[in-house]
This record gives sequence, structure tokens and C-alpha cells, in this order.
Amino acid sequence: MPVINFVKPDGSTQSVDAKDGQSLMEIGRDANVGVEGTCGGSLSCATCHVIFDEEGFAKVGGASDDEMDMLDLAFNVEPTSRLGCQIKVSAELDGITVRVPEDF
Ligand code: FES
Repeated sequence: MPVINFVKPDGSTQSVDAKDGQSLMEIGRDANVGVEGTCGGSLSCATCHVIFDEEGFAKVGGASDDEMDMLDLAFNVEPTSRLGCQIKVSAELDGITVRVPEDF
């Protein structure tokens, strides 16, 4: 079972057990780490914005054009930002660290 380390907006870290096939948004939302996922993963809200470190970003890769359009609406976007609903968790992501930004 992959473990995802979420750095919450308050700076604390919470490690969460994930199931293969869940999205990062679903994992973060269900664990209450500050990821909202208001649109349920349909790429129309940007409330699942998360930021990777360089190593993690290399694993998940860059955003699609549609995802980039939604990221344009998010706050505190960085070059390694992604929308969590677009990332399915697999064993390859075990131990990855994901930062949840302030939403303003
Ligand atoms: Fe709405 Fe990801 S949950 S864009």
C-alpha cells in the first residue's frame, strides 16, 4: 500500500496510506489534509492543487493543456504544481511528498 506524505498548509506533515488507483485528490480529501476536490475530479475547480518536490514531479510528469488551464485559476502555483485529481497513485509513488498550498 503506497504511503503519501502530505505537507499541510500549516506546515505539519501527515502520512496517509493510499490504495492503488485512488487519485491524490481522493486520498488528500478523505484524510482531511487541506485538499478539497470540490468538483469531484472532473477538472473544473482547481481545489485539488498540490505541489511536488523535484523528485516527485519527475515521477508524475507535467500537466496536460486542460489541466494547465485550470491551474491558471489556482493560487500559489509553482512550476511543480499539479491537480491532484489527475494523478492516480501507484506503487511507484510510495513515499512521495506532496505539499498542499494555502488557498489564498
Ligand atoms: Fe476539481 Fe481536481 S477536483 S479540478
